[in-house]
Formats: sequence, C-alpha cells, structure tokens
Amino acid sequence: MSAPLFDAESLRMGPPPDPARPEAGTGTGSTGGSPVDPLDPTVRPRREIPEPTPLSSHGPATVLAMCNQKGGVGKTTSTINLGAALAEYGRRVLLVDFDPQGALSVGLGVQPHELDITIYNLIMERRVTIDDVIRPTGVEGLDLLPSNIDLSAAEVQLVTEVGREQTLGRTIAPALDRYDYVLVDCQPSLGLLTVNALACADGVLIPLECEFFSLRGVALLMDTIEKVQDRLNPELAITGILATMYDPRTLHTREVMARVVEAFGELVFDTVINRTVRFPETTVAGEPITRWATRSQGAQAYRALAREVIAR
Ligand SMILES: Nc1ncnc2c1ncn2[C@@H]1O[C@H](COP(=O)(O)OP(=O)(O)O)[C@@H](O)[C@H]1O
Ligand SMILES: [Mg+2]
Repeated sequence: MSAPLFDAESLRMGPPPDPARPEAGTGTGSTGGSPVDPLDPTVRPRREIPEPTPLSSHGPATVLAMCNQKGGVGKTTSTINLGAALAEYGRRVLLVDFDPQGALSVGLGVQPHELDITIYNLIMERRVTIDDVIRPTGVEGLDLLPSNIDLSAAEVQLVTEVGREQTLGRTIAPALDRYDYVLVDCQPSLGLLTVNALACADGVLIPLECEFFSLRGVALLMDTIEKVQDRLNPELAITGILATMYDPRTLHTREVMARVVEAFGELVFDTVINRTVRFPETTVAGEPITRWATRSQGAQAYRALAREVIAR
C-alpha cells in the first residue's frame, strides 16, 4: 500500500510533562529563530488560504466523515459550525446526524425524541426517500438529516444485511448532486455506523482534543481508516486533523499540539479551536456559533476552518 499515514513513533509519547520541572515545555519547535509567532498554536508558518470563490452551481458533494472514537472531542460542535460556516460562504451543506445520541440534531434546535422519521427509517425502510427525512435548519443553505435513539437498533440490524457497510452511501447518493458538502457526524466508536460513514466519504476530518490521552486513540483510528481504504473505499483520504479545546494559557495543550504537528505535519489544519464556554452555550441556544455569537473568536475560527476545507 501507500506510505504510512503518519509517524507512529512520535505518538508514543512519555508521560505528560511535569510542570514543576524547569525543562518542561522547552520541547518541539517552540524555540525562536524562525519568523513564526511563538503563540501560533501549530508552531509553523501559516499557509496562505485564499478567500473562497462564489459558486454559480452546486454539487456534486464532497462527503466528509467527522470521526474520532473518543467522545467529547468536538465532533458534533465542529460538524454544526463548520457546516454553518461553509453555508455562509455560499456552499450548500447537508449535515448527517449519524450518532444515536442525536446531539447534532439537538444542537440545531431539533428535539430528537419528537421526530417521527429519522435517518434510521431512511436506512432501514426502502420506501422512505431522503427527501422525506431532510429538514432545513435556521441557517440558509444548511440542511439536516436528523437521528435519534432508533439509530442504535440499526447498528444491530445491519449486521445481517448484504452490503451492510455501504448502506449510508446508498441512501445519501440521490442527494449528492444538490449539495457541495455532506458532513457526517459519527458516533464515538469505530463500529458499523462509523465504518459506513468512512465507506462513503471522500475524506475524514479528525477533531482531536488537545489533551495528552487523546493521542492514544489516534493510532487505532488510523488503523481503521487504512483498513477501510484497503477493503471498501480506496478513494478515502484524510482531509485534516483539527485541534480542539486548545487553551493557549496552558503548557500542556501547547505540548500536545506540538506532538500532533510533529506526527501529522501538513495534515494538521492551521486553524485551532480554543476551549471556550461559548460552545456549550450554543448547544443550549440550538444554533451555530456563527449565528449565536457572530463576531466571537469561535465563530471566526470555524470560518477559517471552512476556508481551509474549501482550499483542500
Ligand atoms: N472548543 C470548545 N470549547 C469548550 N467546550 C467545547 C468546545 N467544543 C465542544 N465543546 C463542548 O464539549 C462537549 C462535547 O463536544 P461535542 O462536540 O459534543 O463532542 P463529540 O461530538 O466529539 O462527543 C459539548 O458540551 C460541547 O459544547
Ligand atoms: Mg457527538
């Protein structure tokens, strides 16, 4: 197969640095001598990202799986806000809630338990069409395929189906011509639902919390991605790794960030999402941060991410 996706060696990091030790934090790349702002999280020069050009027509969509088997790393938050930012740039976007928890739906103001029809019906019942399930959101150009707890049954029921890994791909195919991006918010596992997302995706976007322990799961995730590339979807690429929950005040997150850049290089987006209470607030508000706090740093960050995604 192709060259290894990442330098596994550099992920085998030792214990977290002891802040009491004077040498802690003098690690990777943070020393001077380059024209890099020492506070730039990636500790490398920022790439030139052009302003997105307006589109005169739409589709076919690029499908991105938002994937990390660890929970609470910012998959759902990134799906909503990247989607909303892409829509601001005139892209037509479909968000797919592929987690039975339904957090993506909740974050867009939909009450999952009140839904009569969800993505579960779409993938399990042949007579249901995608237009029966797609709903608009409060953001122009941003649509949603909602889910709720019913989807957890699909994971079990699909096991005995022929072509079980291609079920999601088959069901969203009729809508791809209408959208520029389809973002699939995956559940926190590497089970059959996530494999379905990877099997129909053009790219994987990996939100990675700037925490020491978050690096441990990445090797397993990369392994799964390579297996899907080998067996189901040779076109699958890693679109990028997004550092989330970044706290510029702590040495720890800066150290973790340096390790991530060391291991994944160019795959790491220049855009980094800071840890801020504004994101939990938007969940309660049921709308993207680009709407709820338009000028906030979090909103600007997801716009910058959208520009990077469009440029990749
Ligand atoms: N950058 C951030 N700063 C602070 N809290 C965040 C940030 N991103 C997400 N959160 C919060 O962390 C929790 C988990 O985020 P979520 O996007 O649901 O993760 P996942 O989908 O990976 O489980 C949510 O309560 C969310 O509001
Ligand atoms: Mg989630």
